[in-house]
Amino acid sequence: MTERRVRWGVISTANIGRAAVIPAIHASRNGELVAVASRDAERARTFAAAHGIPGHFGSYEALLEAPGIDAVYVPLPNSLHRPWTVRAAERGLHVLCEKPLALDAVECREMAAAAEEHGVKLMEAFMYRFHPRTERVVAMAAEGAVGKVRAVRSAFTFRLTRPDNIRLDSALGGGALMDVGCYCVNVSLTVLGAEPESVQATAGWAESGVDNELAGMMRFRGGAVAHFDCALTMERCEYYEVAGTDGYLRVPDAFLPGTGDVPVEEHGGRGARRTHTVAGDDEYRLMVEHFADCVLHDRPVRYPPAEAASNMRVIEALYRSARAGGSVVSV
Ligand SMILES: NC(=O)c1ccc[n+]([C@@H]2O[C@H](COP(=O)([O-])OP(=O)(O)OC[C@H]3O[C@@H](n4cnc5c(N)ncnc54)[C@H](OP(=O)(O)O)[C@@H]3O)[C@@H](O)[C@H]2O)c1
Repeated sequence: MTERRVRWGVISTANIGRAAVIPAIHASRNGELVAVASRDAERARTFAAAHGIPGHFGSYEALLEAPGIDAVYVPLPNSLHRPWTVRAAERGLHVLCEKPLALDAVECREMAAAAEEHGVKLMEAFMYRFHPRTERVVAMAAEGAVGKVRAVRSAFTFRLTRPDNIRLDSALGGGALMDVGCYCVNVSLTVLGAEPESVQATAGWAESGVDNELAGMMRFRGGAVAHFDCALTMERCEYYEVAGTDGYLRVPDAFLPGTGDVPVEEHGGRGARRTHTVAGDDEYRLMVEHFADCVLHDRPVRYPPAEAASNMRVIEALYRSARAGGSVVSV
């Protein structure tokens, strides 16, 4: 490791790397991008040339074996998160892995154990948690801005147009809940600061077996609820609301707000309404800089894999309920 910068490798030529995380690493104050790997050597070469990455490899294994890399970013299909994270950890590489961290909570724990055993950092790449607005809303809710919090309402939907997309492949860990509903679950657990006791869900299924659409409900100790819908079949919508005894906070474009200034709408009693403006930032860059700081200074990551396991436990319970026709399932 150089004194001040983490040397990153990227495993695959995934869209999210190209569009968001690779630019974020390039822009980061404490990282440099040294190599990309693809299953296809020519794809790796052209991708590296297009994105200003000096090194390229025709297999993921070759990147893991290469000298001069400290950490890898893993934006693979969900079913490949666990095997490649574990292999990277075994090579002594720190891992920032895409969301959802794995297919289930057991896999999350295996990944955490591998990171622990080999003394490397592991974090799930839920970038929206690093946006200053998310931190502000969580703080406002905790400080009583809406009174006693009783509900979190959320949605994340978009319309998938390509039939060969990884999100429609059940063997790769596709599905609306895995892909975008995981944000709704995550923000609900983050705001309410706990795991739900029970859940219910109903889903519409694609021919491939993945959930095209899913609506879920989570009940927390003390009676607070969180409910959401997610879909691969509906026009884009992403928001959450934190509702309490005295009002509610509405957060539009909640997970992908871009880099401009963003609002938090505060609704109080008798129609009172106020908009707070939070200065914009690049949530992907903030995430990679945080992770690199943890690597460079050997600090714990802000969102440890145990939290990802918690999220996955809830996702698993929601799927059990949806498959059982919406029955109440304990988490
Ligand atoms: N945080 C966010 O904002 C965000 C946004 C979108 C997606 N994601 C997450 O990022 C991950 C990747 O999503 P994406 O939409 O970027 O995926 P994608 O464009 O389909 O890329 C996935 C990459 O994985 C590699 N791969 C290895 N085995 C594969 C297989 N059997 N089928 C298809 N690809 C395979 C391919 O790279 P090579 O051919 O180069 O090996 C491919 O380019 C997912 O976990 C997703 O949940 C996160």
